[in-house]
Amino acid sequence: MSYDEFYVKSVVRSISDWPEPGVIFRDVTPVFKDPKAMRITCDAFIQRYIDSSITHVACIDARGFILGSVVAYQLNLPLVLIRKKGKLPGETIAEEYSLEYGSATVELQKDAIQEGDTVLIFDDLIATGGTVLAAASLIKRLGGQVAEVAALIDLPDLKGSQRIQDSGIPVFALLAYE
Ligand code: PRP
Ligand code: HPA
Repeated sequence: MSYDEFYVKSVVRSISDWPEPGVIFRDVTPVFKDPKAMRITCDAFIQRYIDSSITHVACIDARGFILGSVVAYQLNLPLVLIRKKGKLPGETIAEEYSLEYGSATVELQKDAIQEGDTVLIFDDLIATGGTVLAAASLIKRLGGQVAEVAALIDLPDLKGSQRIQDSGIPVFALLAYE
């Protein structure tokens, strides 16, 4: 791990038994509050994708919006919102998925992605991978291709990033918590 990555890791806060007993919650809000950690994080993603063939950044409600929008802005790419059920107006498509705790539905506006678009999915954290796989399914249903999934944190023990890679989508996470 580089010094910069180590710095960001030191800023993420771990909270035991939240939101349920037995869960260690990796809290990224201190990263958003620390300009140095935020800059290191966003710059790492911008460097990775600056010369890529990505045409759209699709970020996931809600914490994925924060990093994803900075990266899309810097890359001068269209930003697409994948939102929890009932938040997007107009014609939408939906996918239901299971979470580490509970279940949820994500939606995408039908005109957000066109056939042939090459999409980077962005979220703050990959746990079971359910959210990202539902997001990828929405993009594919509209004819888009998912180039990669980017996240600040991977929780490899929950095997989400493995599930995503097994589905044929590469994953890039800045930090991993075993
Ligand atoms: C969290 C996190 C990811 C997802 C990861 O979001 O931000 O989107 O869970 O879990 P998974 O890999 O098991 O699907 P959450 O649904 O808590 O929403 P929030 O960003 O609105 O807090
Ligand atoms: N931290 C933040 N978000 C999450 C986590 C976590 O540990 N697990 C599932 N979503």
